[in-house]
Amino acid sequence: MKIKIENLKALRLLNPGPLVLVTSKYQGKSNIVTVAWTSPISHEPPLISISLSTKKYSHILIGNSKDFTVNIPSVELLEKVLICGSASGREVDKFKESGFTKVPGKKVSSPSIKECFAFLECKVVDSFLCGDHYLFIGEIIHAEVEKKYYDDHIDIEKIKFINHLGGQYFTYPSEIVEKKR
Ligand SMILES: Cc1cc2nc3c(=O)[nH]c(=O)nc-3n(C[C@H](O)[C@H](O)[C@H](O)COP(=O)(O)O)c2cc1C
Repeated sequence: MKIKIENLKALRLLNPGPLVLVTSKYQGKSNIVTVAWTSPISHEPPLISISLSTKKYSHILIGNSKDFTVNIPSVELLEKVLICGSASGREVDKFKESGFTKVPGKKVSSPSIKECFAFLECKVVDSFLCGDHYLFIGEIIHAEVEKKYYDDHIDIEKIKFINHLGGQYFTYPSEIVEKKR
């Protein structure tokens, strides 16, 4: 038997992973925001999207600087991830508040986070107001991943990234299934 759920709660059925930390910088001010709503959208060029609420400070920084960096934290960092997902950069310096270490961007103005095992530097190629969120489309122009945690894909036997199930619920992948067609 399937049950009807609220349309708003139905978003949780599609909640993608991994949960990421999006960093940005504009006019000398850096920020970190926790983002669950991300998606790969194109191979050539390699494009991804992030969805940021119109209420958040980050959309102002990214809207002006036209770049952002997507950092992938492991499950051990969840406590700090939640700090970045509750405090606003309007009021606090989230690098200081979380204890994350700021690393200057390689190809973009946005910094990356040393403690995260991977980061993707993106240039904003488009943005749209969609309902109460801005959808930012970013082209990946530089990306790095810890060698020991990558073997053609994230090696989840060595590092666990976080999936957000919605609300206060989280999980992480625990098994790789390889299937050739
Ligand atoms: C697990 C989790 C996932 C979140 N995902 C998103 C998201 O996809 N988009 C968004 O706009 N805010 C999301 N948030 C909320 C922001 O991270 C939060 O409101 C943050 O304080 C905004 O920071 P800022 O004002 O410095 O940009 C999420 C928060 C948590 C804890």
